[in-house]
Amino acid sequence: MSDNKAFVIGFPIKHSRSPLIHNYWLSKYDIQGSYVKLEIPPDQLDAFLSEMDRFGYCGGNITLPHKERAFAACATVTEMARRIGAVNTLWREGRRLCGDNTDVGGFLANLDAETPDWNEDCERAAVIGAGGAARAILVGLAARGIPEVKLLNRSADRMLKLAAEAEGWGFRRVWTQFLNDEPGALNGEALLVNTTSLGMTGQPKLAIDLDGLRQNAVVSDIVYAPLETDLLANAKRRGHRISSGLGMLLHQAAPGFERWFGVRPEVTPDLRDLIIADLQQAHT
Ligand SMILES: NC(=O)c1ccc[n+]([C@@H]2O[C@H](COP(=O)([O-])OP(=O)(O)OC[C@H]3O[C@@H](n4cnc5c(N)ncnc54)[C@H](OP(=O)(O)O)[C@@H]3O)[C@@H](O)[C@H]2O)c1
Repeated sequence: MSDNKAFVIGFPIKHSRSPLIHNYWLSKYDIQGSYVKLEIPPDQLDAFLSEMDRFGYCGGNITLPHKERAFAACATVTEMARRIGAVNTLWREGRRLCGDNTDVGGFLANLDAETPDWNEDCERAAVIGAGGAARAILVGLAARGIPEVKLLNRSADRMLKLAAEAEGWGFRRVWTQFLNDEPGALNGEALLVNTTSLGMTGQPKLAIDLDGLRQNAVVSDIVYAPLETDLLANAKRRGHRISSGLGMLLHQAAPGFERWFGVRPEVTPDLRDLIIADLQQAHT
């Protein structure tokens, strides 16, 4: 890599924990480099991306609301990014802007690490939400060969559109259902994933009846503030294994670090503790 300087860009970007993660790894692996957060409004994104090497950046992460726009700006994208239609990781190959989407890999790597064998006998998974994150998770579930998925969402349009697309990704069946807390919403699923912002600090609660889940089902929430959402606490009380949003955040960061700085970093308990301490400080 020509420059050891990377970024995360978003709008807003103040709350991003990515600099904490990447600067921890830079220090741990004794790499000369930097990783900074930059607030870039949507109307300045294209200009920034076309000029980024002039500013000395070898690449970076992209977060809301820029993931789709950055995808369109890339000359080359990975198959995963193409399927999702959004990128969260950028780098340059010569003059070419390249993009990947590491949310899928981060989600799966974290499930594998926190809840091994989660997909053993998993005939059906339920995914709450129909936005960009839900799309990434469906791509991941299809890649792992989960036969059936049930999509639950507040509104119909995005849910039906995503379900229609997902039918072409190899699922035997894609079910759809409006999100509500009535009994019967879930029925024998072995995995439940919340991909909405419901349950996040400052957002409304996620209300869903977990009675229908398979007894040994895994429950996953991609929200990481609070660390243990009401959904996860409730699932734990019922004896389900749980998988956290923080783990996904840490695992999705690793491939980008390797591209920019040449070392595949490890997600360790020390790193986890560092981010937990920062999240806790922010809420005191
Ligand atoms: N842990 C991680 O590493 C990680 C990675 C990526 C994303 N995330 C988090 O995932 C969340 C979703 O991201 P996204 O990109 O998918 O967002 P998005 O495209 O805007 O989709 C948001 C989804 O949440 C639903 N929703 C939002 N507010 C709701 C409410 N009050 N009641 C019911 N449903 C509601 C939306 O339903 P409608 O379709 O009805 O509007 C939609 O399904 C964000 O909080 C993001 O920070 C975490």
